[in-house]
Amino acid sequence: MATKEGLYTNPIFFLVFTLFFIGGFDSSLVAGVSTLRHGDQLNSTDSLVSQGGNFTLGFFTIPQTNYTYLGIWYTNDDQFNRVWVANRNTTLLSNSSVLTIDNATGILQITSGGNTVLNLSDQITRNATATLEDSGNFVLTDHENGDRRLWESFDNPTDTLLPGMKLGFNLATRKNWSLTSWFSASFPASGIFTMNWEPNQESGQLVIYRRGQPYWTSGNLENQTQTFPNMLMLNGPQSQDYCFLNYISNNDEKYFTFSGLNGSFWMLKLESDGEIYEGPNRLLLGPLNFCYGYQSVNEANGCVISELPKCRSSDDTFLQKRASFLPINARSDYDDNSSLSISDCAQRCWNNCDCVGFNVNSNGTGCITWTGKLEYQQDNITVPIYVLVRGNSSKGQVTLSWSIRS
Ligand SMILES: *[C@@H]1O[C@H](CO)[C@@H](O)[C@H](O)[C@H]1NC(C)=O
Ligand SMILES: *[C@@H]1O[C@H](CO)[C@@H](O)[C@H](O)[C@H]1NC(C)=O
Ligand SMILES: *[C@@H]1O[C@H](CO)[C@@H](O)[C@H](O)[C@H]1NC(C)=O
Ligand SMILES: *[C@@H]1O[C@H](CO)[C@@H](O)[C@H](O)[C@H]1NC(C)=O
Ligand SMILES: *[C@@H]1O[C@H](CO)[C@@H](O)[C@H](O)[C@H]1NC(C)=O
Ligand SMILES: *[C@@H]1O[C@H](CO)[C@@H](O)[C@H](O)[C@H]1NC(C)=O
Ligand SMILES: *[C@@H]1O[C@H](CO)[C@@H](O)[C@H](O)[C@H]1NC(C)=O
Ligand SMILES: *[C@@H]1O[C@H](CO)[C@@H](O)[C@H](O)[C@H]1NC(C)=O
Ligand SMILES: *[C@@H]1O[C@H](CO)[C@@H](O)[C@H](O)[C@H]1NC(C)=O
Ligand SMILES: *[C@@H]1O[C@H](CO)[C@@H](O)[C@H](O)[C@H]1NC(C)=O
Ligand SMILES: *[C@@H]1O[C@H](CO)[C@@H](O)[C@H](O)[C@H]1NC(C)=O
Ligand SMILES: *[C@@H]1O[C@H](CO)[C@@H](O)[C@H](O)[C@H]1NC(C)=O
Repeated sequence: MATKEGLYTNPIFFLVFTLFFIGGFDSSLVAGVSTLRHGDQLNSTDSLVSQGGNFTLGFFTIPQTNYTYLGIWYTNDDQFNRVWVANRNTTLLSNSSVLTIDNATGILQITSGGNTVLNLSDQITRNATATLEDSGNFVLTDHENGDRRLWESFDNPTDTLLPGMKLGFNLATRKNWSLTSWFSASFPASGIFTMNWEPNQESGQLVIYRRGQPYWTSGNLENQTQTFPNMLMLNGPQSQDYCFLNYISNNDEKYFTFSGLNGSFWMLKLESDGEIYEGPNRLLLGPLNFCYGYQSVNEANGCVISELPKCRSSDDTFLQKRASFLPINARSDYDDNSSLSISDCAQRCWNNCDCVGFNVNSNGTGCITWTGKLEYQQDNITVPIYVLVRGNSSKGQVTLSWSIRS
């Protein structure tokens, strides 16, 4: 899962970096072009840069699959987090992809080899422009009768909430804003986790669903202290940054939104394994690794409680290791089903009393389940393994012996 796409293999990184390097931080270059006009085409080597330079929009290719996507990222984020992906479910295999506002229809669309692959907007117009704003919002505006917003990326979130974006719903327009994780760290397709804002009498809370089942809750937003009880690192004593959290509740709209106070790379990102991170420094906000269905002994962690399998106790956990399983006294069972994500593998192993650990394909799909005697060897492989560690209070169960060979 640590195999985030290679930064230096990204052509757009090279382009932007080279421009910065040659031109220094010349404002005309940083400002670049932020608007696509009616009939314009943005090809795989072009990019739009928002007026103040904060955000860049362009095509990027994921080396593990060679699939190409149209995305938005913070221009200077050296982790290249894709804060938005246009075609998450529609993979592009060639570098002949183009983003355009179709000359005839005014529809914002992605074409490949001259064929329309994906329509982003759906209204026919004669004079539209699409602008990447400094907030990271990509907005299609119709200029025919005054300026009218036809479509915007903030209305179609991927896995990341940026300052100013809404999470919640509008009852009048029936628009719902929610986050859906990537399927795996190298596969942007809709994953198994979603995050919603759920308003209530007091305020409201963030709720993560796993395949449609409640998985984790943040606890109610406390407006006075500007915190969520189960997101200790957000505005809590250990947090590095401070942001302003707000919720709106009126007859039409109920949503959560936030603004970053120091302006640097603010984002809340719902990862493919259900964790929430903040910003490129990847501060973990919750929940850790996996929710096992129990609350940790000392404090609530927000995980939704479920019945534990008989063979598991409430301090068993999976530990991530840079290692390989040794198939000497253990057996592996490989399920190549590519609709299985890492969290499915964790749940399988958790519910199988013979399971001692698991790993996944290098692209984050499929499950390799290990039973027998747990033995592994530390190494440099890029895809980590997960081993089940039995807690102290294993309630009379036989503790599986395990050893590390170096
Ligand atoms: C779009 O149409 C205008 C006039 O209607 C024309 O000048 C322009 O060349 C066309 N652009 C493309 C890319 O076809
Ligand atoms: C993309 O368009 C630019 C001009 O806007 C051109 O210089 C470049 O060669 C094109 N790249 C590709 C891959 O077509
Ligand atoms: C991606 O493309 C490169 C260059 O064409 C090729 O060497 C590599 O094997 C491809 N990777 C995958 C996963 O198809
Ligand atoms: C992607 O596909 C999933 C179902 O696999 C669907 O629920 C989701 O709405 C799709 N997302 C987009 C942006 O098309
Ligand atoms: C597209 O990729 C192919 C193979 O990787 C390469 O030969 C070709 O020059 C690329 N085309 C453009 C326009 O970059
Ligand atoms: C895109 O929209 C146009 C115009 O409504 C339609 O003809 C076309 O079939 C759509 N293409 C796709 C891929 O949805
Ligand atoms: C955009 O950049 C400016 C200047 O660096 C900064 O003040 C502003 O907060 C940024 N906006 C966002 C939404 O990050
Ligand atoms: C499109 O709208 C802009 C802004 O209102 C205007 O300046 C431009 O002349 C219009 N173009 C066409 C072709 O109508
Ligand atoms: C939007 O979300 C609310 C609350 O989760 C739900 O009741 C409603 O049915 C959803 N509406 C749509 C159009 O999906
Ligand atoms: C939360 O507190 C802020 C500042 O104290 C206030 O402006 C805002 O209206 C409050 N929001 C709610 C929903 O009470
Ligand atoms: C992931 O890898 C497996 C095994 O190599 C392959 O069967 C599957 O198609 C790949 N999935 C994606 C999305 O690339
Ligand atoms: C692991 O990688 C480090 C640095 O990349 C290298 O120094 C070390 O020798 C490698 N160890 C093994 C067992 O390959």
